[in-house]
Amino acid sequence: MQSELTELVFCAPGNGGTGGMARNVDIAADDVAGIVNFAKKERLGLVVLGPESAVAAGVGDALRHAGFPVFGPDRAAGRVETSKAFAKELMRGAGIPTADYEVFTDADAAKLWAHDREGRVAVKADGLAMGKGVLVCGSVEEADRAIDSMLVQRSFGRAGSTVVLEERMEGPELSVFGLTDGKTVVPLAAARDYKRALEGDEGPNTGGMGAYSPPPDGGEEVVEEAVRTVLQPAVTALAAQGLEYRGVLYAGLMLTPSGMRAVEFNARFGDPEAQVVLPRLESDLVALMLTCARGDLASFPRPRWSSRAAVGIVVVSGGYPDSYETGMVLEGLTNIPGGVIIFHAATRYVPLSGLVTSGGRVLTAVGLGDDVAEARLAALSGAVRVRFPGAFYRTDIAQEAVGG
Ligand SMILES: Nc1ncnc2c1ncn2[C@@H]1O[C@H](COP(=O)(O)OP(=O)(O)OP(=O)(O)O)[C@@H](O)[C@H]1O
Ligand SMILES: [Mg+2]
Repeated sequence: MQSELTELVFCAPGNGGTGGMARNVDIAADDVAGIVNFAKKERLGLVVLGPESAVAAGVGDALRHAGFPVFGPDRAAGRVETSKAFAKELMRGAGIPTADYEVFTDADAAKLWAHDREGRVAVKADGLAMGKGVLVCGSVEEADRAIDSMLVQRSFGRAGSTVVLEERMEGPELSVFGLTDGKTVVPLAAARDYKRALEGDEGPNTGGMGAYSPPPDGGEEVVEEAVRTVLQPAVTALAAQGLEYRGVLYAGLMLTPSGMRAVEFNARFGDPEAQVVLPRLESDLVALMLTCARGDLASFPRPRWSSRAAVGIVVVSGGYPDSYETGMVLEGLTNIPGGVIIFHAATRYVPLSGLVTSGGRVLTAVGLGDDVAEARLAALSGAVRVRFPGAFYRTDIAQEAVGG
């Protein structure tokens, strides 16, 4: 165990990778009663909410009610992620710099708003859509199509029955995680992630195709600005509504020509950003999370960081983010070079077959190095060794930071 505070780690439900280092338990992440019963049975000392579905189901509420320290917000505070309309209202009310927006349920009204901006808008499903519910448009035709697909054809189901339209912003993006106990915010190092499916930032948005840390334009001062102008005001505004947020508040930011703007919040660690940030953290993550859960973060020493860089490349199933096949046998995992960490996501252990794919984003190869260039080569050397039919990954992750 990397933390002295930890004897044993359980993952519910876990995957083919966590099974090798923790105990997988066959309980869905959003099975509230199942998780509370398990926590009681094992007398858990800390519960960390992983996916947004656990936050949305109210796993945090139920566990806190039962007396367990939880790292992850209650359902109501988690609306910063589960409702884009709630998040934008919070930002507006707290004076957080962000794109102008309006909420719509009527397609014609939405189109009028988009036409006033020549179609240069982002059309967002209000609810959760696995990172695929945002359509960034550049023309009136594109905006009309995006609005129709959500509000008329209902291609995102109920998640898209309310949409948020935002003015379109430009600039590089940055992700900053803020650990918080509901009062104090302690930031982690910044990361840049790659949301588009294809090389050169082409193709549809995905849950994330890669990330690296630290980005050259994401130094300490920028992180401090994110805390001062975005994360701390958000936590304070939530508290003012009676919503105590304990966990990690993830700020998606854009560095626009007129300054830093908030794009979105997530209510949990996001992949693959966390996979390039956490390996660089030298402080004890369990101690940090426990302090957030207990509510005395102000007394915690500032996290220490390695000067090494990390680059993560996500290996996905062919066809992702559209349709893809699962159940493909994974090979090459015993042949991963030193300095590379493999984080599993959608893998499953099947007796006789071994590890097989079980979703779109299968795993991330994270390379560490003295600088981004070295880390990138390490990540590529890991990704190329992972083989399964249809495997695909982007080769241009972090290239901007190394030139060429
Ligand atoms: N107002 C905007 N202007 C320009 N681009 C935008 C805007 N809003 C969102 N985007 C682009 O769309 C991406 C996804 O938007 P957003 O982060 O709101 O969606 P999400 O589905 O919640 O993403 P995630 O899976 O990272 O949580 C952003 O990273 C950004 O590239
Ligand atoms: Mg989000």
